[in-house]
Amino acid sequence: MKHMGRLILLGTGGTIAGVAAQADDTEGYTPAALNVEQLLAAVPQAQTLQPIETEQLFQIGSEDMTPAHWCTLAQSTQHWLEQEEVAGVVITHGTDTLEESAWFLQCVLQTVKPVVLVGAMLPATAPDADGPANLSDALHVARCPQTHGRGVLVVMQGQIFSARDITKRFAGRIDAFTAGASEPLGQIKDNQVVFAVPARELHGAQFTLPSTLPSTLPTVEIVYGYATTSRVAVDALVQSGVRGIIYAAPGSGTLSITLRAALRDAAQRGVVVVRSSRTGAGRVRAHTHDADDARLFVSANTLNPQKARVLLMLALTQTHAVTEVQALFDRC
Ligand code: SIN
Repeated sequence: MKHMGRLILLGTGGTIAGVAAQADDTEGYTPAALNVEQLLAAVPQAQTLQPIETEQLFQIGSEDMTPAHWCTLAQSTQHWLEQEEVAGVVITHGTDTLEESAWFLQCVLQTVKPVVLVGAMLPATAPDADGPANLSDALHVARCPQTHGRGVLVVMQGQIFSARDITKRFAGRIDAFTAGASEPLGQIKDNQVVFAVPARELHGAQFTLPSTLPSTLPTVEIVYGYATTSRVAVDALVQSGVRGIIYAAPGSGTLSITLRAALRDAAQRGVVVVRSSRTGAGRVRAHTHDADDARLFVSANTLNPQKARVLLMLALTQTHAVTEVQALFDRC
């Protein structure tokens, strides 16, 4: 039998590792209770995919992921990928902010090897727990030769998503994820991986990870837009010293009169402002009816607010110039 390189399985916590006191309790459970060895032990199909080595990086709910966690995760993943005999890395993760970690990794990892994130909507103790099947699928995708060169992927419910497109759309549905206005990259059924599209040019900004781990990245917060959004949140954030603000607009980036004034003031005080959309799909263009906006504000294009925040935090480690930040968003 042909020798297969090692797969590395990194555990970070989430519902996939959740345990309930009562098996039928799918809400009142403790997340991140099982370790990654225990998750792997629940996947008998993994025997055919050995060798698999595990490492427990964190045991947290993904809502508690900080930039320091992202950097640790990225550095550990990069470290493993640089070992010649390592074939790929699979990461178990909570689903709530899974797309943010996946996008962070897409922006910083330098590799053509498979990197696959996976989670579950039901705790491991649920009778119909989705974690073992999702993990089996993720390991098969990481083992598949066609997975090379496709960037960071997420596997959930038999579907393969790119880090760029995936978003959690439903709070409680088992098929919680979509690719927004795009399609999943492929499917996995009965352990057979089928990509719908050829490997394409990767969307990601390719930042180089610093050799020493930053404990934090520049602070960027998100302001949610609605009818007559007041300037209270923007002013408070500027006052608190944020370096960037993502505006999650109700439509394609429109700004109320009040908010435009507040964001202009913020931009004039050196805060980098990015216009994005809270709608879940569609483009926010740089050009608005007010030409000055394009000079003062960055447009997120089709990046959702939470991923725009990740990109802006990384961008601000290198530049504060609106044109340079916009160029970075345009490349993604
Ligand atoms: C989390 O994101 O850690 C909790 C929710 C989940 O994993 O589905």
